[in-house]
Amino acid sequence: MQRPAEPEDNEKENKTMDISIVGSGSIGGTLARQLAHRGHTVTIANSRGPASLAQLADETGATAAETTEAITRARVLIISVPMGALPELGRTIDKHLPADAIVVDTSNYVPGLRDEHIAAIDEGLTESLWVERQLRRPIIKAFNTIGAASLASGGRPHGDSRRIAAPVSGADATAKQTVIALLDELGFDGFDAGDLGHSWRQEPGTAVYTTDLPLDQARKAVDAAVRSDTAAWRERMAALRQ
Ligand SMILES: NC(=O)c1ccc[n+]([C@@H]2O[C@H](COP(=O)([O-])OP(=O)(O)OC[C@H]3O[C@@H](n4cnc5c(N)ncnc54)[C@H](OP(=O)(O)O)[C@@H]3O)[C@@H](O)[C@H]2O)c1
Repeated sequence: MQRPAEPEDNEKENKTMDISIVGSGSIGGTLARQLAHRGHTVTIANSRGPASLAQLADETGATAAETTEAITRARVLIISVPMGALPELGRTIDKHLPADAIVVDTSNYVPGLRDEHIAAIDEGLTESLWVERQLRRPIIKAFNTIGAASLASGGRPHGDSRRIAAPVSGADATAKQTVIALLDELGFDGFDAGDLGHSWRQEPGTAVYTTDLPLDQARKAVDAAVRSDTAAWRERMAALRQ
């Protein structure tokens, strides 16, 4: 019997989706470009409003929108903003995000430089658990370990030994698979790194953070992560400001 032709690697099982991205900076803007280029229906918002996004929309085919509109349209909502913006976004998500939408958060807490100090995290709360409280929905933590330059140009095909792997954490296994499929489309090996309680293993300061490891090494790095490395990294960041 003749078998149907196999789809190309990066097209397997992926359907185009309505993806909204709040934050149009190094990570949000790059994701908008990459995901729109692959045929997803992308809506993007920032703090300055849609007029400021006209050029990005023109270049990519993404739709520039107010934040509320972007959140209302999302099937997958990617949040990529500094931590201080999250509480207000959580109130908008609470009112406007469709109930079955997937929320993906790219945050890294960088106290003293990007972010004001957050006492709960400084006292030991895992970053993603704090984020989830602010956003008022279950979140998937992803994309936080890939630096902006690697996200923009580091995607590679299956089988390339330099293909970068990225942990994906959260409670919902199906939502994680959706995000892993998006990473795959962009040329990265996403892998399930457990629930948010374990997600400190992918925070800044750990061995998987912005080190562009391939899958086998990235899995080992997550398994072998040392919790005190995250606090030590934050202290180094805070010291840079002084
Ligand atoms: N840069 C990296 O290499 C990297 C890698 C992984 C993860 N991350 C993390 O990802 C997040 C975003 O980082 P980034 O480097 O992309 O930041 P960025 O370049 O500074 O961009 C931040 C974006 O957030 C938007 N924003 C701020 N407040 C907002 C609000 N209240 N409502 C809507 N949009 C708002 C800004 O809009 P305006 O421009 O209009 O103010 C801007 O577009 C951070 O948590 C960061 O730690 C960064």
